[in-house]
Amino acid sequence: MFLTREEERALDGELGPAVALAMRILVKLGDLYGAERLVLIESAHVSGISYKTGGDAALDFLKELHQMGARVAVPSTTNPCGFDERILSLLDLPEEVMRRQRELVELYGRLGIARTLTCTPYYLRRPKPGAHLAWAESSAVVYANSVAGACTNREGAPSALAAAIVGRTPDHGLHRPENRQPGMAFEVLFRPADEVELWAMGFLVGQVAGEAVPLISGLKGLSDWELKGLGAAMASGGMTAMFLLTEEGGGGASSGLEKVQIGQEDVRDVVEKLSSTDEPELIFIGCPHCSREELRLVADLLRGRRVREDRQLWVCTSRHLRDACPGLAKAIEASGALVLADMCVVVSWVERLSVRTVATNSPKAAYYLPGLSGVEVRLASLRECVKLACSRG
Ligand code: F3S
Repeated sequence: MFLTREEERALDGELGPAVALAMRILVKLGDLYGAERLVLIESAHVSGISYKTGGDAALDFLKELHQMGARVAVPSTTNPCGFDERILSLLDLPEEVMRRQRELVELYGRLGIARTLTCTPYYLRRPKPGAHLAWAESSAVVYANSVAGACTNREGAPSALAAAIVGRTPDHGLHRPENRQPGMAFEVLFRPADEVELWAMGFLVGQVAGEAVPLISGLKGLSDWELKGLGAAMASGGMTAMFLLTEEGGGGASSGLEKVQIGQEDVRDVVEKLSSTDEPELIFIGCPHCSREELRLVADLLRGRRVREDRQLWVCTSRHLRDACPGLAKAIEASGALVLADMCVVVSWVERLSVRTVATNSPKAAYYLPGLSGVEVRLASLRECVKLACSRG
């Protein structure tokens, strides 16, 4: 891979051991993927913040980086961690686990990374169209490429961190215009009844598309939060990092591509496969973290209603939005629901709650929760989730 004089100096350790280590990681990855050079990035978003999934290995790696004097070179943000301090009494975690989770977050801060603790960094600072990024949260990656028009590969936690420290990433994959072209065409033959059908369709597209960029026709007038969830579902169904939507049914942009048709039955099948319970004890919305629009929808649906004594309703969002929308947070919590920030339910210690069943409108959460927390899941739309949380029978 070609390196500029400045990059050579960084690799040789002239800018310190942490930059040299980060450069070695990037050069190795660049060589592996056949990149010819590094590109400057506008921002980085790092994952691996939950102590539950990162464990001591993440903690040790960060301590070492910190001791080496590492600092990020570009604006950088963090994914959610394992808890919102507000629910610590519910989780009843051992003191040591809480201490290590806090230390992990603190260490990211010491590297100069904004402790945003959200998987929707684009609501804090929207990437510029065409900008190169190194983002590590798969749902945020799809949003950045497909909705914001920026360019990022699906980075892993170490490669995003290395890119943040150097301010560059190898120029391959979705950084190259030739790889941002559609590779498979999907025609949606029905009108999704709600966001769960839409997102389950996305999950299916992700499963089928492999590494190809899917071009989807037959969807109209999707809102920002629907697009956000669609991308997140695709990224959890498979390796999708970018999708394209088209108005046309055949020919044009999809000519020459393998074509797949998706009907309502296919999607209902996905919903059924991702659901295994009808009696959820914990209901949660906000995977990916809720936008302002979703908070407003939930607040409207909850107006005049009360969450059942035997159920819990969690609405997860970023701290940034919770602080920016105090009226909405208050309206939601008036029902007995909790508006939680900083955390991802999927990488939290749900198994420590006395719940065995969860409902959510997110196929991503429905897919990962049983394996990570041993709970049964019901996939239900936002409207249905509110109903499940509030009504009997
Ligand atoms: Fe965000 Fe966690 Fe879902 S990081 S996308 S809430 S799995």
